[in-house]
Amino acid sequence: MADGRYVLAIDLGTGGARGLLVHQHTGDVVATANATYSLDCPQPGWSQQDPRQWWQACVHVIKTILQEHAEAEDIACIGLTGQMHGLVLLDANNALLRPAILWNDQRTQTECEAIHELLGEQRLIELTGKPALTSFTAPKLLWVRTHEPEIYARIRHVLLPKDAMRLHLTGRHAIDVTDASGTSWLDIHTRQWSTEILTALELNPEWLPQVLESTEHAGCISSQAAAETGLLEGTPVVAGAGDQAAAGIGCGINDPSTISVNMGTSGVVFAACDGVPIDPSGAMHTFCHAVTGKCHLMGCMLSAGASLRWYRDTFCNGMHYDAIIEEATLVPAGSEGLRFMPYLAGERTPHNDPNLTASFMGITGRHTRAHFSRAVLEGILYGLADGIDLVSRSGAQIDRIRMSGGGARSGVWRAMAADVFGVPVATVKNVNGSAYGAALLAMVGSGQFKTVGDAMRAHVHEAKVAQPTGDTIQYQGLHAAWKHGL
Ligand code: XUL
Repeated sequence: MADGRYVLAIDLGTGGARGLLVHQHTGDVVATANATYSLDCPQPGWSQQDPRQWWQACVHVIKTILQEHAEAEDIACIGLTGQMHGLVLLDANNALLRPAILWNDQRTQTECEAIHELLGEQRLIELTGKPALTSFTAPKLLWVRTHEPEIYARIRHVLLPKDAMRLHLTGRHAIDVTDASGTSWLDIHTRQWSTEILTALELNPEWLPQVLESTEHAGCISSQAAAETGLLEGTPVVAGAGDQAAAGIGCGINDPSTISVNMGTSGVVFAACDGVPIDPSGAMHTFCHAVTGKCHLMGCMLSAGASLRWYRDTFCNGMHYDAIIEEATLVPAGSEGLRFMPYLAGERTPHNDPNLTASFMGITGRHTRAHFSRAVLEGILYGLADGIDLVSRSGAQIDRIRMSGGGARSGVWRAMAADVFGVPVATVKNVNGSAYGAALLAMVGSGQFKTVGDAMRAHVHEAKVAQPTGDTIQYQGLHAAWKHGL
């Protein structure tokens, strides 16, 4: 019997697409489906993907979920999330003009500098909440203008990755405020495209999609998409959110006192805020949040889990992460003076310096591998604590941190994190991050909840909580000493 009891979330990641079917009343994840696609690196520092592969993957996950777990009539609304910042270029017939250039593509340093020159870096930070970075969309479009003028001349639509999937699903060109704030074209104060920036960069505003709040309806499943996927024609699709804002929603981040730390390959510090705080140094980045009218701060440490993986692969001869972490507990807090600087790929937050390098410092003959293991775990946490300090400097009184990602799995490391950060560190029950956040946004779109806050209160619950211990005071001094190592 059709009753619209589910929402479907689609998360267009960098490695693959994920579908999540979630029960609106219980918040339970009823089904998941995944499909992978490849990444193209035709030149050093380049990173591209074929959006046609994205669509095939989306069709696959939707069909899998519908075949095995739900009737199309039971899906009340669809939520979208995915990799941010990527550039998808279409002609007047919505035909693809070139492969998408992704968030992790590094070819546009010159264009970032050009944007700063054209607009003034401070003015760009004031308007968009951050400087131009190679990750963002605007420098990618300028690169195409310079290097591929014949393609540039045919552009009629510019979309971000998840919104290219929306076009397939609904025929509509739209974007949500969170993803739009990762382009360098959005005025995060008005939550609309900035005429000042578009004029300075001589870009055609007609190419850009309509900007909507994350829970607004942004199209309905078209007859063509219904035929391709099995979804019901007319099913509403909400605007959704970029993967970081959606992950914030999945962790229930709605006010400045509880922030989240996602410890994956990179480490992301994420805080919701009232008003529009701007860090003039450009170290902490401000985005529009998926909660209507709110913003969020985001700091990104480039090598969080990546540092531990590198350490394991280079020095630990096949050891399991848990064994490395266990070994680290054999030595005291502070690793008896051994320090690890986790800058294997330069650093974004707080240093914004692609040339920083990693190092071990203070090595003596007394240090064993257990000291090195502990120093790596502590160095990663200090790097994240630098980001948390920037959030505190914006005036937030942080009293709790919710941790997600692979690094949150270890109770021992979470306990260490509670000591380094000096506040309780909790995990949430649902570990589906961005996809779960997109599902919650769809529940507001379906009318199940009035606000995103209501949806988070109903369905986001903490699982395990690590409390700070007596080591906290000591770690404050150790973090300060570690910073001097730089
Ligand atoms: C956010 C960012 C990544 C990408 C890919 O600024 O660069 O989170 O969205 O996941």
